[in-house]
Amino acid sequence: MFESAVILGSGLGAAGQMAVDPGGIVIAYDEVPHLPCPAVRGHAGRLIMGTGELAGILLLQGRVHLYEGHSLDRATFAVRMLQHLGVQNLMVTNAAGGINEAFRVGDLMLLNGHWTFQNVHQPSSVSRKVPSTKLWSDRFRHVARSVDCSLSVHEGVYAMMPGPNYETPAEVQMLKTLGVDAVGMSTVPESLAAVAAGMEVLGVSCITNLACGLSDQPLNHSEVSRAAAQVETEFARWLFNVLSRLHS
Ligand code: HPA
Repeated sequence: MFESAVILGSGLGAAGQMAVDPGGIVIAYDEVPHLPCPAVRGHAGRLIMGTGELAGILLLQGRVHLYEGHSLDRATFAVRMLQHLGVQNLMVTNAAGGINEAFRVGDLMLLNGHWTFQNVHQPSSVSRKVPSTKLWSDRFRHVARSVDCSLSVHEGVYAMMPGPNYETPAEVQMLKTLGVDAVGMSTVPESLAAVAAGMEVLGVSCITNLACGLSDQPLNHSEVSRAAAQVETEFARWLFNVLSRLHS
């Protein structure tokens, strides 16, 4: 019924509105049994079914994080719901702090590797079904790179930190030494669950700030949302073009 789905991270909800405006069908998360509702500002908690040119695409405007106290099962519930709806391709987006010196605020990074510092594997056999080298789809990344975007599109390694506080400058230096390009607090649990469910996954970070200690700018959720707001329309346009290229 639905070929593709997108999980929209902090402040990146414009794609949701772009699907709603031409007649997309909206269901609030709290109308879906068992689907946990986001508590963080910038995560609307709306499930949007695309219509017309966006038919076959489901958008999840907002996610819950492990740091909000959700179990891994709850934090990945949406992905299992998508599996039952037939979703094959999942795009997982987030706001992230840039560590790679070549990255600027407003750039995008396609994930080609990740680090996690907490347990993000299901206690069942699920984690063993996911070869760790195959998490981020090469095909999907290749398609994403072939679509024009006025934002700079990089590739790199994402570190999921536990949050909810931003990292300390010392932690950011450690991540840099480990070869991490961008840091955030999400994405990996949903992506692992999706691959375990047989989906192909594209992870995309929007660099909303330089990671803590790498710039004099204040780092807080408002700054992150403000930076995301400046690029979210172009980000949404690119995202729909990637999906349509994938469907053609
Ligand atoms: N660190 C962690 N999560 C984030 C950041 C960051 O610098 N920016 C946006 N989300």
